[in-house]
This record gives sequence, structure tokens and C-alpha cells, in this order.
Amino acid sequence: MGGLIYTYMGTGEPPELPPFDFVTVPEAYRVNTKVLLECNYLQGHEGNLDPVHLSFLHRMATDDPDSAQAFNAVDTHPTIEIEETEYGARIYCVRKVSGDRHYVRITNYIVPNFSAVSGTADGYTVNWHMPIDDTHHWRYMIRFSRTKPLADDGRFMGRSEEITAEYRLVRDRNARYLQDRESMRTWSFCGLGRNFLPHDTCATEGPGPIQDRTQEHLGSTDKGILIGRKILLSAIRGVQEGRDPPCIVRNRERPKDTLVARSDIVLPASVDWHNYWEDEAIEPELAVVPR
Ligand SMILES: [Fe+2]
Repeated sequence: MGGLIYTYMGTGEPPELPPFDFVTVPEAYRVNTKVLLECNYLQGHEGNLDPVHLSFLHRMATDDPDSAQAFNAVDTHPTIEIEETEYGARIYCVRKVSGDRHYVRITNYIVPNFSAVSGTADGYTVNWHMPIDDTHHWRYMIRFSRTKPLADDGRFMGRSEEITAEYRLVRDRNARYLQDRESMRTWSFCGLGRNFLPHDTCATEGPGPIQDRTQEHLGSTDKGILIGRKILLSAIRGVQEGRDPPCIVRNRERPKDTLVARSDIVLPASVDWHNYWEDEAIEPELAVVPR
């Protein structure tokens, strides 16, 4: 399940492979799967740029007060800060959690159509939304390690039990995503099982094959979606004017993959979390939050 094949569909000389470590590590270091989604790729992708939905859509009861699930439930109105980067943007989602601490969750948006979040201790998890046509796309999900083979820990590949041999969700729209109302009364916000994938699919296919964005009402928690659109429109204009979009590498040294250089952390609220990555004296209470 580690193989990925890349195709260059532009004109002229192909660029190098995308400048990210998960592309070039040995197959055994990577676990990946895909699923067919019946909506435009952009609305599937934009769901990943909204970190607030974790407090609602994916919410499940937990007994562990130091888990991402608990943190996401404690603060449903996080603050969001944006940092533009060489490849796109970082979306910092900061929640006030128990013990007078801050939980900082980071989503990396990478031009044009994928995002990366903390996943393994020395890698990350990618959601890559690849168009098939205007109303269908593949969602590729990739976890990888930079240093060692990845065993199937049952957490990620467990999703395959919910994916058919044709890479379709068992919990699809025709089956109303097999929603279980009883679980909504007891442990689950959305009642769609424990895997996040059907949750996201229900939410992103729900607006229809192509979301009518003239009817949407964006708020302050949609900052990630707004920066994603701004960067994408700017990249489109650049291509129209004959320039390469971000992430295209030609005839220069391959840039260092810094995506996981800022992974999720929990810090005392008395510490300014902005300084964590430059100040070695700051000790995190949790370096990577279990998810
Ligand atoms: Fe999600």
C-alpha cells in the first residue's frame, strides 16, 4: 500500500517531484490509501483547512483528559493565526485547555490541493485531494516516517475496513453514511463511527457536488479557508502570467522539507507559544498530542 505514481500533465520540461519527504521515502516507510469522493476536490480539501470542526464533527467521548479529543471538546472557540510560508500557509489553532495550558494544533496548507498535520513522531499525515472531474475526486491519505518502516498500527489502515475494493466508502451518501442515532445520544457527535473519514465525507459531500459559495457566510474561524483561497487565486494568476506556481522545483537545490518542523504542542499558558520553535529553553508539556 506504499506505492504512489506521479504524472506530469503540463507542457514542456517536467519539474522535479514535489519537494516533500513523504514523496521520496522508501515504500515501507509509508502507509497510504485513497477513497472516491462525490464532490468537487476543493470543498473536500477546504474542510482540512478548518481546524474548528474537530470540536464538533469528529467529537467523541473520551476518558483521557490529555488527548486531542478532550482538548477539542474543552475549547470549541479556539483562536486561529495564519503564517504564510514558502509552500502555502500554516494555520495555528490555539485552544485553552485544562491545567491553564494552551494546545496548539498546526495545519499546513500546501499549494495547490493538500494539507499536512502531525501524524508520526518523525513524519506527518497528508490529505491530498486530487480532481477526477468537476464533481468527483480522490482523497489520498498518507502517513510516513522519515527514519523507519511504518507498521500498521491499526489506527490508519483500520480505515480500509470501511473502504471497498473499488475505493468507495461503505458509509456512503446512498446509505446515509450509516448514521447511528443511538451513538449520538451517548458518545459521538455525528453518529458516523470512529473513523474521521466518513465524518468529513458527509460534511463535504453534503453541500452538493459543487458547493454554491455565493450562499456561504464565512466567519473568523474560517481564516484558514480564506488564506487557502487567496494563495490559490494568486498561484492561478501567476500561472496565467507564465510563472510556475509555488512548490514547483526546477534547476535549483531541493528545498528542505520543513512541514513537521512545527508539530502540535501543549504549553503552559504563561509561555508565549509563538516563541517555542526558536527558544530551546521552552519545554513542551506534550510534544505531539495523541489523536
Ligand atoms: Fe475532518
